[in-house]
Amino acid sequence: MSAWVEGTVVKLRRWTDELYSLQVKADIPPFTAGQFTRLALDIDGERVARPYSFVNSPGNPLLEFYFIIVPHGPLTHELIRLQPGDSVYIATRPAGFFILSELPDAEVLWMLSTGTAIGPFLSILGDDVVWERFRKIVLVHAVRTVAELTYQDEINALLEQHPEQLQMIPFVSREDTDFAIKGRVPAAIEDGRLEARSGIPLNAENSQVMICGNPAMVRDTTRVLEARGLKKNKRRDPGQITTEQYWKDSI
Ligand SMILES: Cc1cc2nc3c(=O)[nH]c(=O)nc-3n(C[C@H](O)[C@H](O)[C@H](O)COP(=O)(O)OP(=O)(O)OC[C@H]3O[C@@H](n4cnc5c(N)ncnc54)[C@H](O)[C@@H]3O)c2cc1C
Ligand SMILES: NC(=O)c1ccc[n+]([C@@H]2O[C@H](COP(=O)([O-])OP(=O)(O)OC[C@H]3O[C@@H](n4cnc5c(N)ncnc54)[C@H](OP(=O)(O)O)[C@@H]3O)[C@@H](O)[C@H]2O)c1
Repeated sequence: MSAWVEGTVVKLRRWTDELYSLQVKADIPPFTAGQFTRLALDIDGERVARPYSFVNSPGNPLLEFYFIIVPHGPLTHELIRLQPGDSVYIATRPAGFFILSELPDAEVLWMLSTGTAIGPFLSILGDDVVWERFRKIVLVHAVRTVAELTYQDEINALLEQHPEQLQMIPFVSREDTDFAIKGRVPAAIEDGRLEARSGIPLNAENSQVMICGNPAMVRDTTRVLEARGLKKNKRRDPGQITTEQYWKDSI
């Protein structure tokens, strides 16, 4: 099997100057909600490939990826030039273990994301399994500014479908709002604001926590959760914290 499938761009949606969603048609094998693939373009004669989480749920033939232009990033600066009908390469094999089958059962599932890492959670929430496995689900999207609280239509549709089961809690760190928690996720867990807002206790007995995005947020949130008795979830040593980081921590 070849490592790459040539996909066709259907749409590039611009949310803000930095945030985009790319929709692609490509004949790839099935993936599991929460997994990622690699996108690639040939740039100056070299194939430049990077991992991206699926935003669409399995079974949806329109593949979707949500990305931010990172300063001096070689691939993202080319992805935003794509037009409908252009080609983009997609890795044949999906990858990753940020998937529900890796998680032990619990009453509550906390989905904690920064920035573009809301993507894999939307994929998981669009799949039936999550609604069957968890009694309560709390989706957290932490961003710098209100304009970065994207995918509101999709989230509102999920809230309407699952009013008793799903909560969405936005965090905005660099603007004042009358609806979002101000600041960062680990601080709001530590001082109890996240539990107060959700009305749900977060502890090792009732919760599974999935954390995705900025590696510093993943690290700091893991520390705060460990301090209250949760531990990393490993296949041979099950715990409550399952993580995926989008780049390497600089510390
Ligand atoms: C498993 C996995 C899944 C990923 N899924 C996504 C996704 O769904 N959406 C997405 O936007 N990115 C995602 N990424 C990051 C993505 O692979 C690229 O690194 C990113 O799009 C930048 O590519 P680039 O070639 O422009 O720059 P790169 O050379 O890859 O990155 C340059 C630098 O930018 C920073 N950086 C990279 N990615 C991000 C980011 N997302 N946000 C903030 N800073 C970043 C890092 O410091 C990095 O060293 C994922 C990464 C991994 C490991
Ligand atoms: N968003 C933009 O407008 C913008 C513009 C130009 C370039 N970029 C670049 O794009 C990349 C990603 O930007 P982004 O806005 O998606 O993601 P981000 O920088 O990861 O910020 C998303 C959220 O995560 C929070 N965060 C950062 N470190 C944390 C930690 N240790 N613990 C808990 N929360 C933490 C941020 O809070 P704080 O605000 O407190 O840091 C913010 O609320 C960055 O490399 C950035 O340089 C972004």
